Amino acid sequence: MLTRIITEGATRVEVPVPDESSSFPPSSAAVFYNPAMRMNRDVAVAAIACFSKNNPEYTYLDALSASGIRGLRIAKEGGLNTTMSDWEDASFELVTKNIELNDLTNCTAIKRNANVVMLDDSFDIIDLDPFGSPAPFLDTACRSAKRLLCITATDTAPLCGAHKKAGIRNYAAVPLKTEYYPEMGVRILMGAVARTLAKHDKAMTPLLSYASAHYVRLFAAVKKDIKEADECLKNMGFISHCFGCGAREWKNGLAVHMEEKCPVCGHTMSLAGPLWLGRLHDSGFCGELLGELEKRGFKEALKLVAACRDELDIPMHYDYHKLCKSLGITAMPTDGLIAALREKGFQASRTHFSGISFKTDAGVEELKKIIQGLAQLPH
Ligand SMILES: C[S@@+](CC[C@H](N)C(=O)[O-])C[C@H]1O[C@@H](n2cnc3c(N)ncnc32)[C@H](O)[C@@H]1O
Ligand SMILES: [Zn+2]
Repeated sequence: MLTRIITEGATRVEVPVPDESSSFPPSSAAVFYNPAMRMNRDVAVAAIACFSKNNPEYTYLDALSASGIRGLRIAKEGGLNTTMSDWEDASFELVTKNIELNDLTNCTAIKRNANVVMLDDSFDIIDLDPFGSPAPFLDTACRSAKRLLCITATDTAPLCGAHKKAGIRNYAAVPLKTEYYPEMGVRILMGAVARTLAKHDKAMTPLLSYASAHYVRLFAAVKKDIKEADECLKNMGFISHCFGCGAREWKNGLAVHMEEKCPVCGHTMSLAGPLWLGRLHDSGFCGELLGELEKRGFKEALKLVAACRDELDIPMHYDYHKLCKSLGITAMPTDGLIAALREKGFQASRTHFSGISFKTDAGVEELKKIIQGLAQLPH
C-alpha cells in the first residue's frame, strides 16, 4: 500500500495514497481515508473537547478506526485516553505506526470486531463512523457508551426514504422522501438511537445533529436512568405528510391515531415514523462549540453550527423554491420571506439543512398566501 503523511488539525497521519485508476469511493483502498470528512472530524474534535472539558479522564473509543485519523486527533488535540479498533490487519498496522508518529502514550490500537470490543468493555464516549449504516453497531454502542454517542451514517438513501425498504430494515421505521428528506434522515436515525438506548435503560439528550452533503451526524449525551429513558421516549412520534398539497402534521407517541385524509386538500396522507420529534440540538452546547471551533481555527464548521443553534425547534422544514414552483412564481430571498412570516405573527427561521429552506409554524395554506403576497409586491 502506497502511503503519505498528511497533517489534519495538529495531528500527523500516515494515510493511503488513492489508486489513480479507482476514483471514488476511497473505501476501495486497503485502508480507508476520506479527506472530504475533515470537517466532520474537526467538529468531533471540538465537540468532544467541549463535552469533556471538566473531565479529562473520559475514555474515547474510535470503534471503526481505519487509519486512526479520528481517534488520533481526539488523543492528540483533545488529550483523552483513546482506543482505536478495526478488524483489518492493514488498518491495525497503520494505526500502530500513527500512534508512534505522534509520540502518543494515551492510545491503544486493537484489531477486533467493533461489536466484540463494545460488548467487552464500556467507554465514556463512543464514535461510530462506519461504511454506510451504523445499524449493525447500534445495540452494542448503546450498551457500552456511558456518556456520549457520536454517530455518522452515510446511508442517506435508506434514512431519507429514497430506499424505503432498506430504511425499514435498518431502523425499524418508515422513512418518507419528502422535500425535507435530510431532516427525515436525521430524525429516523435519532429515533433508532433513542429506542436502542432505552433498551439499556438509558436516555439521550441531543447536543448537535446535522445532515451534510452525503451523511448524517449525531452527538447525543447518554444517561443511564430508567425514568429519564421513559421521558426520552416521549419525543418519539410520527409525521403525516400530504403529497397532494404539501401539508404536514405530527404527533408524539408510539401508538397514535392520525387522520387518513389531508385536512387541507382531502388527499390521502402518508405516514413516516416512528421517528424523533424532539430537539435536534442543545443551543447552549452549540454556543460553546462555536467558541471552541473558533479557538481551534476550524472555520469551515462555524456557519453550520451557528445555523444549527439558531434554527427553530420544529420537526420539518419547507423548501422555498419548491413552494414557489408549485405556485408558478419566482422565489424572493429567503430572509424576506422569514421577515414576512414573523410580521404576520408566525415563528420562522432558516435551517442548516439547506440555504433555500426555512422552518415555520405557519400551515401550508397560510404560507402559500404569504408567498403569493410577497410575489405581488413591486420589486
Ligand atoms: C468508514 S471507515 C472509518 C473511517 C475513519 N473513522 C475515518 O475517520 O477516516 C470504516 C472502517 O470500519 C472497519 N470495519 C467495518 N466493520 C467492522 C467491524 N465489524 N469491526 C471492526 N471494524 C470494522 C473497516 O475495516 C473500515 O476501516
Ligand atoms: Zn393536502
